[in-house]
Amino acid sequence: MAETRIPLTIVDAMTRVSEAAAIAAYELSGRGDEKMADQAAVDAMRTHLNAIEMRGRIVIGEGERDEAPMLYIGEEVGTGSGPEIDIALDPLEGTTLTAKAMGNALAVIAIAPRGTMLFSPDVYMEKLAIGPGFDQGVVSIDASPAENVEALAKAKGVTPREITVCVLDRPRHLNLIESLRSVDARVVMITDGDVAGVINTTDPSTGIDMYLGQGGAPEGVLAAAALKCIGGQMEARLVFRNDEERARARRIGITDLNRHYKLNDLVQDETVFCATGVTKGGLLDGVSYSRGQVETQTLIMTSFDGATRRVRTRRPVRV
Ligand code: FBP
Repeated sequence: MAETRIPLTIVDAMTRVSEAAAIAAYELSGRGDEKMADQAAVDAMRTHLNAIEMRGRIVIGEGERDEAPMLYIGEEVGTGSGPEIDIALDPLEGTTLTAKAMGNALAVIAIAPRGTMLFSPDVYMEKLAIGPGFDQGVVSIDASPAENVEALAKAKGVTPREITVCVLDRPRHLNLIESLRSVDARVVMITDGDVAGVINTTDPSTGIDMYLGQGGAPEGVLAAAALKCIGGQMEARLVFRNDEERARARRIGITDLNRHYKLNDLVQDETVFCATGVTKGGLLDGVSYSRGQVETQTLIMTSFDGATRRVRTRRPVRV
């Protein structure tokens, strides 16, 4: 069996952490309050994380200490004894999706040995991802979207028209979409949820070949953890809108603000990725209730053995 520095008991515990966050958030789905749904997921994650025997440190969290009372970047979680683990989390990836009871909201967490995941500020990140099976560097964040489509089409042995690119539906992506359409690529737009957008490039059944565009940097690191387990390529660059954001990055130790990150820079060592569906989506089913039981579906990926599991869990509803 492949070796791992992350104890399997902690892998199992992380599954429970993301399940708890998903159930808590689902209770507030369709109630129109994004903050409340997010807070419920944060509370559930924090309670469960603090029960795990580890010296955990949040590297991707709800923001910085002064803006997030819980699960802020740098917060220590766990019992305070056991292995040193870095944690990237997004207790509710898709706050708007949940508040509006739309599909594809997830609770997401990834872990890695101490010091091996990018300590990232909560700014935007330019992202480019493709699935496994292509030569390294076939696409590049330094090339134009049109050039990347042409390069991927050539590598796949198809025409650019047969390449499908997933993009967040945002006004800032108008030029990107124009570039994609100039080579006749198909553009699938999503309203939210780019962690799933990136993961979808690894599954041929989704029809998505490439993910492109700017989204949250925390979501970028989480998506990179998933790709590190399942395979694929990702490149990224932090995007700063003002000096305050640049200062935030410097404060947490980022010196090269224009750095072009590859997958192995975002997540350098082994990792474990867990996501539980909150609302039903393409990647995972959402939380559901039946006959006094609550059911969740969780995707668990482990880089040390390249395994991907989808676990359905039923537990009695506690009132
Ligand atoms: P939240 O649930 O935290 O709001 O994130 C949803 C999301 O769509 C992410 O998947 C994505 O990375 C980010 O928001 C994009 O940010 P913005 O909505 O500002 O364009």
